[in-house]
Amino acid sequence: MIAKHIKKLDSYVPGEQPSSTKVIKLNTNENPYPPSPSCAEALKTFASEKLRLYPDPDCHALRRAIAKVCKTTESRVFVGNGSDEILALAARAFVEDNERIDSLDPSYSLYKTIAAIRNVPWLGVSSLDEAESLVAKKNAPSLFLLTNPNAPTGEWREMATIANFAKKFPGVVLIDEAYADFSRGNCMALATAEKNRNTIVMRTFSKSYSLAGLRVGYCVGPESLISALYKIKDSYNVDAIAQALALAAIRDQKWMKANALKIINTRKRITEELEKRGWDVIPSESNFVFAKPPKNTKAAALFEDLKKREIFVRYFKGKKTGDRLRITIGTEPQMDKLLNAIDELIIR
Ligand SMILES: Cc1ncc(COP(=O)(O)O)c(C=O)c1O
Repeated sequence: MIAKHIKKLDSYVPGEQPSSTKVIKLNTNENPYPPSPSCAEALKTFASEKLRLYPDPDCHALRRAIAKVCKTTESRVFVGNGSDEILALAARAFVEDNERIDSLDPSYSLYKTIAAIRNVPWLGVSSLDEAESLVAKKNAPSLFLLTNPNAPTGEWREMATIANFAKKFPGVVLIDEAYADFSRGNCMALATAEKNRNTIVMRTFSKSYSLAGLRVGYCVGPESLISALYKIKDSYNVDAIAQALALAAIRDQKWMKANALKIINTRKRITEELEKRGWDVIPSESNFVFAKPPKNTKAAALFEDLKKREIFVRYFKGKKTGDRLRITIGTEPQMDKLLNAIDELIIR
């Protein structure tokens, strides 16, 4: 009754969402600051009468606003029910049953699950050079999911490096820019370029716009790829309230950028503070740091100890990730509490 590949599927485990509001939640890269006040206003003034009708299936108003911010046209923009939905659609639209999906490893761990649900192999490569060598050997996947800045590491790659990779890549390169608003730059120019044939840039309202609960993501790319996504999506994949609030959020770029800057400044401070305490912190261009506690402290044990103190961070077991913790950047007072807890738990 249940498909064989679903029977043996290891489903994706999202970071814990505790019911207690006392928890300092630094485990799912949410934004610690509220969304633009214009979102609250849009919610307050949303006429419930409108809920009688289906929402705009093509998200026209929101796509026009996104196109304006990204300096492109509406026909090159797709809006999804969170960027996770776009990943699932890309796996269906751009991959044949006998093809493959690849990404860096470590990277967003959902990619592997998306491939498993699509019932195609996934290969985690350790660098873009390794991915390129597979292309040279005519062993390329048809979809490469590239997080930039990467998660959980926070590392960032220059646009020129990615452009060079995409040029040689025969399939679709989907650049997941969930965290780009916290970084030095982004690859939107690759997605909007007239000559672009295979590159999609994906963004989300969940991180820099503080709207993880709303579930809206979007991507920009060549019209041919965008219309393939439109062909297969559910008719009404983005609800009316989500469209209205995301529209309010994207129109308030000033609010989003001010919050992103606060987070970048806190990231700089927490990086320095952890380094002073002997941690190894990978330079991050994101709203989190991926950091290794000083020797004699096991990341897994520290994760549990912090949890007991109602401070949630993220731990990914495994050879490449198991010696570090991924810590979302919270408010300044939240980070002070984290540092105090670390100082009590790790005797220097
Ligand atoms: C790299 C990356 N892409 C996508 C997402 C999911 O975004 P959304 O909330 O839009 O589904 C996340 C969430 O943590 C992420 O880390």
